[in-house]
This record gives sequence, structure tokens and C-alpha cells, in this order.
Amino acid sequence: MMPEAAGCARVRVGRGSVAGSVDRQAPPHPGDGSGPVPQGVLGDGACDHVPVMLDEVVDAVAPRPGGRYVDCTFGRGGHTRAVLDRIGPAGRVLAMDRDPQAVAAARELARPDSRISVHHARFGEVGDVVGAAGLAGRVDAVLMDLGVSSPQLDQPERGFSFLHDGPLDMRMDPGAGISAAEWLASASEQEIGRVLRELGEERAARRIARAVVAERNRGIPVATTRRLAAIVAGAVRGGGVRARVHPATRTFQAIRAHVNEELGELRRGLAATPDLLVPGGRLVVLSFHSLEDRIVKRFMRGDGVASAPPRRLPVVEASRSAGAFIPFKSARRPSESEVAANPRARSAVLRVAERSR
Ligand SMILES: C[S@@+](CC[C@H](N)C(=O)[O-])C[C@H]1O[C@@H](n2cnc3c(N)ncnc32)[C@H](O)[C@@H]1O
Repeated sequence: MMPEAAGCARVRVGRGSVAGSVDRQAPPHPGDGSGPVPQGVLGDGACDHVPVMLDEVVDAVAPRPGGRYVDCTFGRGGHTRAVLDRIGPAGRVLAMDRDPQAVAAARELARPDSRISVHHARFGEVGDVVGAAGLAGRVDAVLMDLGVSSPQLDQPERGFSFLHDGPLDMRMDPGAGISAAEWLASASEQEIGRVLRELGEERAARRIARAVVAERNRGIPVATTRRLAAIVAGAVRGGGVRARVHPATRTFQAIRAHVNEELGELRRGLAATPDLLVPGGRLVVLSFHSLEDRIVKRFMRGDGVASAPPRRLPVVEASRSAGAFIPFKSARRPSESEVAANPRARSAVLRVAERSR
């Protein structure tokens, strides 16, 4: 396990420089603000994470004394702490994260507080984890705050961001799966192009894929964040130097989503939730990317989790959420003042649905 907060840097984020994260509009959420990353709630210095839409999320989770809650994405626990403050001595929070550093932070919080149980797991496994804890069908709210945390983005050795030079890793759990560098070393040009197009909506996907493979064929491994960013900038017409957003933004977001299988995780996690919640229980999801938000929106309105079921095949998955949820009226976005204080909140969309009775 990595040491907690190893190598974490407090960064002043330059305009137009963007980390490997995703956005529905031009500027991706983390790291494109013109000010410093704001101090988080944890007060532990360089590696804080400021919880996004905290008041709105707490309103949506609606914690009550004695309630049971699942935080699928503990991060640094900003949302969990606010829930704990409202559930009294008999309340419970089951906290999960796939990142060992986040799990270490959660265990620290849980040490003096027996109301929290901590699980190092992916939220694609939330059905099993909650089932094994004996809480299936007894949970009052499930929270998913998708994407990456500030500590992940700000630590060069995690390789999520081209704001810092570091090994091209991008795994949320560095102990599982293959790194972005390993994937780029072995994937075909076609596969790289497909990932950039489908997960990054990158128009120059083919050119970038070709440039990566050409570099590889010259015997130079694409192994660092800055190297990849430079290859992408060179492949994109004009180098994207005038663009408000760095030309490598979409490439980074696509590779991160691929290496962590983010959309598959989201689909599996969502599909489990109808069996976990009590009637009237809440599903609360914060997303930072239009691809994620589309999956969440469709799931909540009853279309299940299949993105585009092949024609003429039985749509088994797609019927899973039919009638399971009543979505709240509309998605919510962070206030202007929150975005001004925390630019990493800018692309957040909060969706809430209630388990039908
Ligand atoms: C935006 S942060 C959550 C921040 C948290 N709400 C807070 O207030 O501190 C997202 C977290 O979700 C975790 N994560 C992302 N995908 C996950 C998955 N499939 N399973 C479990 N954890 C995941 C990341 O490791 C990261 O710690």
C-alpha cells in the first residue's frame, strides 16, 4: 500500500492546463481554475479534497438518526463526515473506495467511530459488499461521487495529471490491473483510437493513436504524463496552443476511464442499487462527465444500464431498473460561488432518485 498522501503537492493550477479528468463542456473539472486548489474540510494540509455540492448532497441523502448509508466513493470522507454528523449514535455508514490511500483515510476516521465500516472494494461490487454486511434492502441512501479526488490528481506519482510530470499510471488502485503506460505499450493503434473516440469523444483520435504507436515503434516508451501530453499536442493540428483547454485533456480522460473501466463500474454499481435500498431510499449520484451522466439519467428513469443494447437481442439489463426508481425532478449543478471557490466542481451534475415503494 502506498503511504498516505505520499508526494502530494499543493499546486497552483494554470489556466488552460487540465488534468486527466472529464467534462461535458470545454473545461474539465479538476485543475483548470485560475486560482489555487482550495483548502479542504480535512485540514490535513497538502492533500485535501473539497467535497462537491456538500449541502445539496446532504439534502439528497437526507440522513436521519439511526439511518444506514453507503458511501461508494469515500475519497477523503467529506460527504461521509457530514452524514455522520446527522445520524446519531445508532446510525451506520458503510464506506467503500478502490484507492488504498482513500481506504487508509477512511480507516483513520473509523478507528474511534464504530458507526463506520470500511471496505477496500470497487463500487461495481457494492451488491456483494452490502449483502455480506447484512444490509441488503435495509439501506436508506447510496451515494456515488464519481471521478477522481484532489489527492489523486495532485500526486505526480499517480500519473493522472499532466500538470505534473510523473509515471503514466492513472490507476485508482495501483495494486490492480495495468497502468496507462502498460496499456499504451501493448494496445493496437485501432484500440487506442477507439478508446480515445468513445471515452474521450476525441475528434483527433486516429491521429493521436498513430503518433503514440509511431513513438513506440521508434523504441521510445510512452511512459510519463508529460511525454504523452507532448505527443498529443504534436498530433493535434496546430498543437492546440491557442485552445483554452490543453489538447491532451480528452486523451487523458479517455485513458483514465479505460484503465479503470469506469463506465462498466458505474453500470454494475447502479444495477445493484435497487436491491440495496429500502422503499423510499435514495440513490444520489454526482457525475462529472456527460457519458457518466447519461448512464445515470437513463438508469434512474428506468431504462437500466445497457447503453446501447444490440438490436434483436433480449434487453435483459435494460429492464433492471424499470419501475425501481422515481427520479427527482431535475439534475442540479453547483452554484456559481461554489465553482468560483472550487473550480474542480464546475462540471458536476447531481442526480437523485427515490426507490419506489
Ligand atoms: C470524487 S472522489 C470522492 C470524494 C468524496 N466524496 C469526499 O468528499 O472526499 C472519488 C473517489 O471515488 C473513488 N472511486 C472511483 N471509482 C471507484 C470505483 N469504481 N469503486 C470504488 N471507488 C471508486 C476514487 O478512488 C476516489 O477516491
